[in-house]
Amino acid sequence: MSVPAGIGELRSRFASVFGAAPDGLWQAPGRVNLIGEHTDYNEGYVLPFAIDRTARVAVRVRPDSTVRMLSTFGNQGLTHADTGALDPARARGWTKYPLGVLWALEQRGLAVPGLDLLLDSDVPRGAGLSSSHAIECAVIVAVNDLTRAGLSAQDMVLATQRAENDFVGAPTGIMDQSASLRGAAGRAVFLDCRDQAVRLVPFDAEAAGLVLLVIDTKVSHSHASGGYAARRASCELGAEVLGVRALRDVGLSDLEEASGLLDAETFRRVRHVVTENDRVLRTVELLEASGPRAIGALLDDSHASMRDDFEISCPELDLAVETARHAGALGARMTGGGFGGSAIALTPADAERAVRDAVGRAFTQAGYAAPDIFPVRPAAGALRLA
Ligand code: GLA
Repeated sequence: MSVPAGIGELRSRFASVFGAAPDGLWQAPGRVNLIGEHTDYNEGYVLPFAIDRTARVAVRVRPDSTVRMLSTFGNQGLTHADTGALDPARARGWTKYPLGVLWALEQRGLAVPGLDLLLDSDVPRGAGLSSSHAIECAVIVAVNDLTRAGLSAQDMVLATQRAENDFVGAPTGIMDQSASLRGAAGRAVFLDCRDQAVRLVPFDAEAAGLVLLVIDTKVSHSHASGGYAARRASCELGAEVLGVRALRDVGLSDLEEASGLLDAETFRRVRHVVTENDRVLRTVELLEASGPRAIGALLDDSHASMRDDFEISCPELDLAVETARHAGALGARMTGGGFGGSAIALTPADAERAVRDAVGRAFTQAGYAAPDIFPVRPAAGALRLA
């Protein structure tokens, strides 16, 4: 995992690559979703938080329309593009994320200037922690500042979603960028995905004697490939058959009737979304009334629902979750879009060692690659560093 370059280091690297100082530096975090999976594009509820791993970008406005980009990760060298001719078919690797943002801003009518960009990140890539959104959000806050475009957080959420959907080609919702742009230290972001209303909910695991462990299974996933889109299509079908605008409008008490109207598979998909929305609301209530120790069972139920009803888990995620629970975690679930990536385990601090050891051992015994296990805590959302 790369260590984040300090501000001075990024500045001097920028100057040596581009021959001038940057106009500024910005950062945006990755995210962990505490609960509320595949509910965002159903206009439901989610409860993610911004993590203490960030993408950082140093940027300078150019007098022409050329974009020059370099990252401290990835093996692409200095890459050129032109703001007048941004083309999803030609963008490669990580450059899709900054270029997608510039493209989406142009689609909104913003005159995007040429830019020099140096990117750095310590958000693990491919781990389901939204390293791509961290890049997109760092770039969009930078461009918003530099062009004085006056975009609100909500505008930036929609523009980065457009970048993901129509430039990167991943039909994702608004959760990840909302956490990255609107997160705060010690808080989870309770987001209503219908109207983008946010309530920041206290989530201070440490103060409760807990640690939130991420278990990166190293199983790679991509939301631009089939599974994510297929789940989204099932949800849309379910909403259409049930005659509602989105599954957000189906309540627990409607499920019995829905089971008679939907085929068995679509019903299971719908049941996941409906029960998950309810779990988010109950998690928020419990966090506000009793604190993080109270939410373990809801995390477990969420995982079971994703494994059995939504069918987006995988053997490695299930093993991570079950082993963490048996070794003392209060609750555990896969986090993010699924089909790989990471699980989270809410663990008493004095059981952290046991959970780490047990999960490591279980993976070795199963013949899986060694997982990466590390703690995360809710951190600030995107901001200007310098
Ligand atoms: C990915 C997407 C989000 C959301 C989650 C599942 O992270 O980017 O929009 O749909 O999957 O909850």
